[in-house]
Amino acid sequence: MTKRISLSGIKPTGTIHLGNYLGMIRPALELAKEYQALYFIADAHALNQVHNGDDLNRWTYEVTALWLALGMDPEKVVFFRQSDIPEIFELTIILAASTGKGLMNRAHAYKDAVEENLAEGRDPDAGINMGLYTYPILMAADILLYGSHVVPVGKDQVQHVEIAADIAGAFNHMYGETFVIPEALVRPEVAIVPGLDGRKMSKSYNNVIPVFAPSKEIHKKVMSITTDSRVKEEAKDPDSDNLFNLYALFATAEEAETMRATYLRGGFGYGEVKQALFDVLERTFGEMREMYEHYLEDKDKLELILRAGATKARLIGTPIIEKARRAVGFRKVAGQRME
Ligand code: TRP
Repeated sequence: MTKRISLSGIKPTGTIHLGNYLGMIRPALELAKEYQALYFIADAHALNQVHNGDDLNRWTYEVTALWLALGMDPEKVVFFRQSDIPEIFELTIILAASTGKGLMNRAHAYKDAVEENLAEGRDPDAGINMGLYTYPILMAADILLYGSHVVPVGKDQVQHVEIAADIAGAFNHMYGETFVIPEALVRPEVAIVPGLDGRKMSKSYNNVIPVFAPSKEIHKKVMSITTDSRVKEEAKDPDSDNLFNLYALFATAEEAETMRATYLRGGFGYGEVKQALFDVLERTFGEMREMYEHYLEDKDKLELILRAGATKARLIGTPIIEKARRAVGFRKVAGQRME
């Protein structure tokens, strides 16, 4: 039996942080053991935010090196760059034609941007490009092109996967069975990774800890985590403390239990917990960081890996885009030259 497909994408918009790692990358790598995994760099999605080609390129290579360093095997995982797949753009147009504008109006990312504009007294559309508005359609194309069954994502992306499922359902209803209906997979235990200030770790809050950065930088970030001002002697509730929660995500179960007991007993300083967190992060990522630097040095090799992945991804996607083309009445077969 052929394996079911797990697909996910990550935008090359800057440094990948622990929230990305726990929310998406680690679960995606777990799923790759059981599923045929297709993971990609969503550079076309990043275009809405990154308006500098050199940055886009650099971040694309950084994200590729990061996945490799985290143990992704490009022989097993089909790993590619979104913009290498012309079928994605064609499918986006096909899907846009049967997608209601109202569905886009309800997408969180767009709605949040409008609300922020209104709150600041600006025009509701200020700074919003069409790429942001139609973002969910491009994402639906990403998911539907390969017949993906599951989509491992962080909680913030669940709505986008649901929109993709809606778009697939509506298309199938209109034209007959064409697309697999995808399902989002979220790991509940890491649904929220706290950032330096206790809010959700997110680039937009500027409160992230990068997965790979020089030790000194990670140390500085960890030491800057916000804690309350209770004195050393007092007992503290571990579960409401973001420092403890971050520690528990990387420590072993036993280490976390010991730390929990320490919190309940009191008589320790947050500085010690920060050091313990730094140590578990070094233990988890220290060696991989060297691999990361090593991969990053050989851009030609990264490029070869991405291109080989794109060839495989297109092979998987071709029968599905052909089905969609036939369904809507296009006659040219994808990739065929004009005669
Ligand atoms: N929107 C996702 C994010 O911001 C990235 C993404 C693009 C994606 N296409 C996708 C994720 C398809 C899953 C499936 O994180």
